[in-house]
Amino acid sequence: MKVLAVNASARKDGNTAILIQTVFEELHQAGIKTEMVQLAGRTIEPCRACWACGGRKNCVHERDSFQDVFEKMTRADGILLGSPVYMANMSANMQAFLERAAVVADMNRDAGLFRHKVGASVTAARRGGAVNAVDAMNHFFLSQNMFLAGSSYWGIAYGRMPGDVREDVEGLDTMRSLGQNMAYLLKALGERQG
Ligand SMILES: Cc1cc2nc3c(=O)[nH]c(=O)nc-3n(C[C@H](O)[C@H](O)[C@H](O)COP(=O)(O)O)c2cc1C
Repeated sequence: MKVLAVNASARKDGNTAILIQTVFEELHQAGIKTEMVQLAGRTIEPCRACWACGGRKNCVHERDSFQDVFEKMTRADGILLGSPVYMANMSANMQAFLERAAVVADMNRDAGLFRHKVGASVTAARRGGAVNAVDAMNHFFLSQNMFLAGSSYWGIAYGRMPGDVREDVEGLDTMRSLGQNMAYLLKALGERQG
């Protein structure tokens, strides 16, 4: 059983990465494997609306690392999306990534690429727009026949400079509960599906 996290911060190993690692610690406790892909230093281009992905189960454009990350996502049992808040929403890289992921999934609907996987989203913010960012990322899961893991609050923690989110005690508790709930859901679904 494996959870793949996509971290769409422009800053490698920053606050969003810390939040993802905090969720991962709980998943590890439950024996679930994890991998984090950090998009820092890479640009994911937006969808070209060419519709050539129909029947191909992936984007046909090889100009960036989208195909590789998407492929990993289809193989995982759970998907954790992480983005800092940029301009009161998810980052442009996450927006571009999810545009393409949703179009590929929709154009290959019969393949059920994400059907019955577990999803969750986390965000790091300095001050405003965090709920928007989490909601925007969750729209992907909620349109892909997936199950959304909840927590004791929304997946938000506050901080500006790398490491600042460690001071947000409630934010980190929210991440721990999210990890526990994600593990619970993954295991319950795994037992049901045999
Ligand atoms: C381009 C850019 C836009 C930002 N816009 C917002 C914003 O609208 N609201 C906010 O609370 N923080 C904003 N921030 C601050 C980041 O969300 C914050 O520093 C966060 O902790 C960064 O996480 P990271 O270390 O994972 O990159 C912005 C930062 C950048 C670089």
